[in-house]
Amino acid sequence: MQLKGKKILVGITASIAAYKIPILVRLLKKEGAEIQVIMTEASRDFVSQLTLATLSGNPAYYLPFNPTDGTWNSHVEFGRWADLILIAPCSASTLSKMAQGNSNNLLITTYLSAKCPVYFAPAMDLDMFAHPSTKKNIDTLISYGNHLIDSQTGELASGLCGAGRMEEPEKILEIIIHHFKKKNDFAGKKILITAGPTYESIDPVRFIGNFSSGRMGYAIAHEFANRGAEVTLISGPSSQKVSHHNIQRLGVQSAQQMFEACRNLFDQSDIAVMSAAVADFKPKNVPKVKIKKEDGLNRIELEPTVDILKTLGSLKKRQILIGFALETSNELENAQKKLQSKNCDAIVLNSLQDAGAGFQHDTNKISIIDKSLNKTDYPLKSKAEVATDICDFILTMI
Ligand code: CTP
Repeated sequence: MQLKGKKILVGITASIAAYKIPILVRLLKKEGAEIQVIMTEASRDFVSQLTLATLSGNPAYYLPFNPTDGTWNSHVEFGRWADLILIAPCSASTLSKMAQGNSNNLLITTYLSAKCPVYFAPAMDLDMFAHPSTKKNIDTLISYGNHLIDSQTGELASGLCGAGRMEEPEKILEIIIHHFKKKNDFAGKKILITAGPTYESIDPVRFIGNFSSGRMGYAIAHEFANRGAEVTLISGPSSQKVSHHNIQRLGVQSAQQMFEACRNLFDQSDIAVMSAAVADFKPKNVPKVKIKKEDGLNRIELEPTVDILKTLGSLKKRQILIGFALETSNELENAQKKLQSKNCDAIVLNSLQDAGAGFQHDTNKISIIDKSLNKTDYPLKSKAEVATDICDFILTMI
């Protein structure tokens, strides 16, 4: 019972994904949570009030007062009662009302009255989700400190395929459990993280890059932010999103740009985690115009990029510096060499030989090697769980 005694207010809005919420309510109840459901009027076309009242063990409200006896369903009390508000599914209309403070129903007045953390799980069709107003509203809510449970890509009720599916109930449960386990153990710490690939220009339209998605670095950034840290995430080109107001994302393209951003911030950082897959070489001469096919191209002359981690290692004073090593052979030996030559305090090793580890996976399998060359092995886990392990490890070093 990982949610015993936790008071969770579940807000349901008009989206087809509302049919999954009774399952979520059951899952939350099984973990011991107390549930209060508040619906929007239109959501009752998608899921029954009776089902939700029965499964939650409390009346499911949608009106600000009770029409039979005129008693008030106090949004102030609901807002103060909750330890956490979860709005799932969160329709485009509710997103917009939350962003604007447009309090024309019980759910929004409750949301505005609440002092507790708010999670929201958008669910809508492809083009609605892709609309700039939706994106802007999501960003606004994140800037208010609300937590996004991002939509997933897949088949949508319309038959279209793409982003906009509500996250699955089992995953939402996991996120909520994780929220209550969370500690504030990095409060006041300034963290510098690099993530994603770098692109090194060949000419104005072509580049040398790599397959890094940035997922691991973004997961580490979110874990630190969830634990109270102030995070600056220096990201190479990546489709990953930031969904925490404690993360400042600086987008860069080349190794040189990533280096300059890191150098500027390293001094004021307490911890730096270099998870980016930085290109080791870049084209030596980059023409200002596109290389034409007829002119032929037999070779591209390369020169080394700056080694960001190594440079920070040489500048290090009080900072804790964590490197990554992605290896395909002689893993341990290579990782140990990198740890020492780059003056890291620890290095996270992932081997491309492990199934499910490395680039483009949702999972990773790591070992962490400390300065005394002690190695701790971890099993294959989701990148979010790996991020927790990495932060827990760093905590032991503070
Ligand atoms: N790194 C860096 N700057 C570079 C290259 C790598 O900061 N120009 C960092 C990575 O972010 C990572 C660590 O160095 O934290 C190791 O990166 P990796 O690519 O595994 O090793 P390299 O030093 O590039 O060596 P090799 O490619 O030969 O394995």
